[in-house]
Amino acid sequence: MFNKKYVSLCVVAGLFLSISVNCVVAGDANEAVAKKTIPDPFEQNERLGRGVNLGNALDAPNEGDWGVILKEEYFKIIKDAGFDSVRIPCRWSAHASNQPPYTIDKPFMDRVSWAIDNALKNDLYVMLNIHHYNELMNDPDGHTKRFYALWQQIAEHYKDYPDSLLLELLNEPRGKMGLKGWNQILKESLSVVRKSNPHRTVVVGPHNLNKVEYISRLEIPEEDRNIIVSIHYYEPSQFTHQGVEWLGESSKSWLGTKWMGTDREKHAIIKAFDRAVAWGKKHNRPINLGEFGTYEKADMASRVRWTEFIAKSAVQRGFSYHYWEFCHANFGAYDQETNAWKEPLLNAILQPDK
Ligand code: BGC
Repeated sequence: MFNKKYVSLCVVAGLFLSISVNCVVAGDANEAVAKKTIPDPFEQNERLGRGVNLGNALDAPNEGDWGVILKEEYFKIIKDAGFDSVRIPCRWSAHASNQPPYTIDKPFMDRVSWAIDNALKNDLYVMLNIHHYNELMNDPDGHTKRFYALWQQIAEHYKDYPDSLLLELLNEPRGKMGLKGWNQILKESLSVVRKSNPHRTVVVGPHNLNKVEYISRLEIPEEDRNIIVSIHYYEPSQFTHQGVEWLGESSKSWLGTKWMGTDREKHAIIKAFDRAVAWGKKHNRPINLGEFGTYEKADMASRVRWTEFIAKSAVQRGFSYHYWEFCHANFGAYDQETNAWKEPLLNAILQPDK
């Protein structure tokens, strides 16, 4: 039998062992927490992959005003088609108080959360933004505080969401905020988001409609590496925006413009995209093409050629991308009347390399 001394020795040894094991386990947990720190934005960008904008829904003054109401089945339809992610444009500014503390309307927050949850349920990455904050562009002094307050609430609300939710600070900054103003607002709003979301991948774009020509003027805090830079591309607009009602008379004169895929036409795209590549390499930032698309008045053959070339050029350069947009009659790749994809467009978006 064991004597008493041996038993107490064993107890002490056991205790020591269990403390050490616990320490190792705690160490592992700490390491896991430490590892959780910052997702690699290049990997995040790969996961965004090939995506589509759920446009004209939550970015309209009220959902439905522009003819699109999101349906639960859309998320599965998008996933089944082969998309990796959705960008969800949201007009938060139309659903929040105009007085401090600028509280966001609960029904709107719930509706956005419903959309995000459905996307995540279908294994789609999500890029959520503030879209169409036109008052901020026109009167930055009168609206920056409100803009930060919106981000404070949005970021706080989604802080426990998985890494598959990305936050994009502002769609197409432009107008009176100016280049300098935007760089400053970007910095401030990023630090608001970082307070509750130190690990979240954030997306930002250059001033003046996310145009690549302005990418070299974009200022991002150097130490924040968890960032993807997003550009938008609709050139030549005489082709992509021909007959667009909101551009007035001038766009009517563009009707009939084709895109044939000549060397010259392709070169313009290559030049623009290579500019983004060069900047991305220099600053070690991944690039997303957050919007590109063509209006329904352009002929389908040209739309398909252009879309395919854009998507292919993006894939070749390692950009993730989001086609503008899912199911509105004008730019949409899906017809919500017939419940069917416009197959040639869908293939151009998803399989440009085949
Ligand atoms: C705007 C949309 C517009 C699209 C193409 C987007 O950034 O939010 O309203 O249809 O660009 O012009």
